[in-house]
Amino acid sequence: MKTKVFISFMTVLQLFTYRLDAQFVLPPLQYTYDAFVPHIDSVTMRIHYNNHHRAYVNNLNAAIDKHPELKNKDLEELLSGITAVPEDIRVAVRNNGGGHYNHSFFWMLLNPGQTKPSAKLEKAIVAEFGSVNNFKAEFEKTATARFGSGWVWLIVSDGKLKIVSTPNQDNPVMSDAPDKGAPILALDVWEHAYYLKYQSNRSAYVKAFWNVVNWDKISDLYNAYSDLY
Ligand SMILES: [Fe+2]
Repeated sequence: MKTKVFISFMTVLQLFTYRLDAQFVLPPLQYTYDAFVPHIDSVTMRIHYNNHHRAYVNNLNAAIDKHPELKNKDLEELLSGITAVPEDIRVAVRNNGGGHYNHSFFWMLLNPGQTKPSAKLEKAIVAEFGSVNNFKAEFEKTATARFGSGWVWLIVSDGKLKIVSTPNQDNPVMSDAPDKGAPILALDVWEHAYYLKYQSNRSAYVKAFWNVVNWDKISDLYNAYSDLY
């Protein structure tokens, strides 16, 4: 599984986890900050991307600077081997490398237009969860149940779709993740992702998320991974 995760994520992430002069960089957004109004407000988008995500990138680079021997490693390589990262920067790489990976993935999965799952993905969702609506309800339940900060994911694992949740900036790619697999959907449930508009009502934010999900991209990811995992 570990080898397959690495190969697969090399493909998916190569466009947004590249380095410039051995430094990780903030990937450009493919839309404007107000692209998802009214579901996600523009101030949240700007702060989330330009402040929070940028800080993860900067902090990751600062950690890697302490161990130049790691500068030839890609992000997915660092995360899939997180337990082998030197101990003095392991927490920093986990939190900030995870933050960079998760947010890069999240931005890619947002879309201002309406999309829907491919026939192949819908069939898999129905097979696993009974219906698309049941899947959404289960995803929402997992998202609202995550105590504190974290993420909820739809992953492909052992050939099946599975909803999992991770704390902080952990993700299913990390070598010590309890539920490893190939992510095809992710939702950030840190308060910084929704508090300005939704305050403590995380449930409303999670429900609004379905209006901006890029099912075309998720379907492409499922198509790429369904036979690999
Ligand atoms: Fe975030």
